[in-house]
Amino acid sequence: MELSIATPDDWHVHFRDGRAVGDVVREVSRQFGRALAMPNLRPPLRTCAEALAYRRRILQVAPEGFEVVATLYLTEQTTVGEILEAAASPSVVGVKFYPAGATTHSEDGISDLATCEEVLSAMEESGLPLLVHGEVVDDGVDIFDREERFLDEVLAPLVARHPRLKVVLEHITTRAAVDFVNAAGPSVAATITAHHLLHTRNDLLVGGIRPHFYCLPVLKRSQDRRALLEAATGERRRFFLGTDSAPHEVGRKESACGCAGCYTSPVALALYATAFEENGALDRLEDFASRRGADFYGLPYNGGRVRLRREKWEVPASMPFGAGRVIPFAAGRTLTWTVTGRDPI
Ligand code: DOR
Ligand code: ZN
Repeated sequence: MELSIATPDDWHVHFRDGRAVGDVVREVSRQFGRALAMPNLRPPLRTCAEALAYRRRILQVAPEGFEVVATLYLTEQTTVGEILEAAASPSVVGVKFYPAGATTHSEDGISDLATCEEVLSAMEESGLPLLVHGEVVDDGVDIFDREERFLDEVLAPLVARHPRLKVVLEHITTRAAVDFVNAAGPSVAATITAHHLLHTRNDLLVGGIRPHFYCLPVLKRSQDRRALLEAATGERRRFFLGTDSAPHEVGRKESACGCAGCYTSPVALALYATAFEENGALDRLEDFASRRGADFYGLPYNGGRVRLRREKWEVPASMPFGAGRVIPFAAGRTLTWTVTGRDPI
């Protein structure tokens, strides 16, 4: 069985920096025509100039025609001037809000969102989306409850204060997040990863701890997975594709204190096809992967098409990653969908 879809977008990728970028962009560009690059480098991308320079570093090692859009990293020092510059730049499409301490390289993120009110108003006025890592950071809150608590304590008040602010709740993991987006107005959307569509915390923890299934927000229960699957394959167009593909060198994952992140880029479209097929919704994959995100960001669709075939292939055990190696998600497993090629028109 063959499937051909308009060239999709990945609205959430960690390309990293330095030599590793080429290894990541090679995998992303085999399947996607455009990707949104996350700004959590060290140091983070705080200004438009830094974000645009990073975009150029990615494009330099990307194949011809591949498009990258950049984001700013929101800090408590971000100025309204920087926001207006970002809003005026066609290649900077959003500002990422990391609660300080929530995840990889989030130390420079936000401890007190009240410090950002002017910046948020400027974003609301200028139509520049806020991309949200939706977890509270509080030692007293169980890691499995952090997304739901964020919705109640941070996001609901934020959306009430700024009803026209465009918000993308990134990598949603719970039924509560699906319900939140469904109940919200047209300015609130969400990305859904392939690993959260296909896996639960059992895959992370039953029979041994599997570090390559560890990401943030952490995998949840089967009823949450079901809600994500229904949202991704449903009619509502405010759920779209973002892999949160987050490579870490193998030694940083397979460690007594392993980093969070699933490197799904090499297998992303195959995994999404598997998830959509599970829900009998392969005919919706194109809208989810290639249209809805572009519509939300107000960007044109990609040209060309990507072909997939229902054909088994084995995922490599590891791949080059700069000077080291990275273990791709689903390493050594046999997948049922293969990306067979790209057609330019
Ligand atoms: O699992 C994750 N890895 N979640 C994030 O939010 C960040 C990412 C990374 O950069 O490694
Ligand atoms: Zn991410």
